[in-house]
Amino acid sequence: MPGTPPPPDDLTSLLLGWFTDHARDLPWRRERTPYRIWVAEVMLQQTRVETAIPYYEQFLARFPTLNALAAAPLEAVLKAWEGLGYYARARHLHAAARQVVERHAGCWPPTYDGLLALPEVGPYIAAAVASIAFGQPVVALDGNGCRVLARLFAVAGDPRRRPVRQELESLARSLLPPDRPGLFNEALIELGATVCLPRAPRCERCPLRDACQARRLGREADFPIRAPRRAAPLYDVAAAVVRRRDGRVLVARRALGDFLGGLWEFPGGKREEGESLEECLAREMREELGIEVEVGEHMLTLHHAYTHFRINLHVYRCAVRSGEPRCLECADFCWAAPAELDALPMSVADRRIAQWVQSGAIPAG
Ligand code: ADE
Repeated sequence: MPGTPPPPDDLTSLLLGWFTDHARDLPWRRERTPYRIWVAEVMLQQTRVETAIPYYEQFLARFPTLNALAAAPLEAVLKAWEGLGYYARARHLHAAARQVVERHAGCWPPTYDGLLALPEVGPYIAAAVASIAFGQPVVALDGNGCRVLARLFAVAGDPRRRPVRQELESLARSLLPPDRPGLFNEALIELGATVCLPRAPRCERCPLRDACQARRLGREADFPIRAPRRAAPLYDVAAAVVRRRDGRVLVARRALGDFLGGLWEFPGGKREEGESLEECLAREMREELGIEVEVGEHMLTLHHAYTHFRINLHVYRCAVRSGEPRCLECADFCWAAPAELDALPMSVADRRIAQWVQSGAIPAG
């Protein structure tokens, strides 16, 4: 291995050369419009490439242009996002699309600052779109890019900490070619996603291996430092299947600002300390929808893991004892025929309850 690392220009050309030869053929790399790039970057912020591809293709078939997205109701956008998780991304995408159409006559602000000023567009998305779509010389570092740089320069510390992140960004800037910033950003991400893997890096395939300081130290696995994961707390959540005589079931739309905001659910909520699941459900139905229910048979329990917590979702058959549902702590409610549930955007856990309802497993009455 050579003793002195190559100068930044050489590292950059090694990386770009490698990307030119090895870039995966991905749907968002075929037709480069700001809209398509933006949708891809938003999806890819929390989702792996393989998972994102079918969603991306369906999303673009459903909303082929910025105008189509801006004109669509939020509910349709959430439906297209169903199963991808992190639903705030879909709400933010929709809000930004509307703003570009309404305040910028459908033309994207072509700069990092202009993009960052759009509602709910954060620094990563602004930098990715500015560099990839508009050739602006800004670095867009995701977790993959951070890992590559942390190893290449043996940067100690957790990239989630601000000073470490700033150091990595400054290193990226020192390599960024002003004439091809988008290519560079994507190349770094690609190298992290396909070669410089978190657990078992494929150093033999890496164009930067001779310059990699972590490799030189024989400590690839030590960079970047990862904070030990805290065990995700487990909550008990109760949900109600209230079925009317005509077979319709009661579903509520979650308040927009809440977790899973805008999605439909079988109403219910988290059990509080000292409460039984039945008491919890009766309270939630009162608070959310203003009705008193008789909590009946326990139907099923589902387990679901979100990023920062896990739930046991206990589903009960319920009957309305008094009151008419009204929205107290939800955005909307309706009595849906089982077949109509498919059209409503739901989280994965509620979709499983819906499928169970549709399977005819609840006794009539
Ligand atoms: N992750 C984030 N942006 C990406 C891109 N443009 N291609 C592949 N993976 C990505």
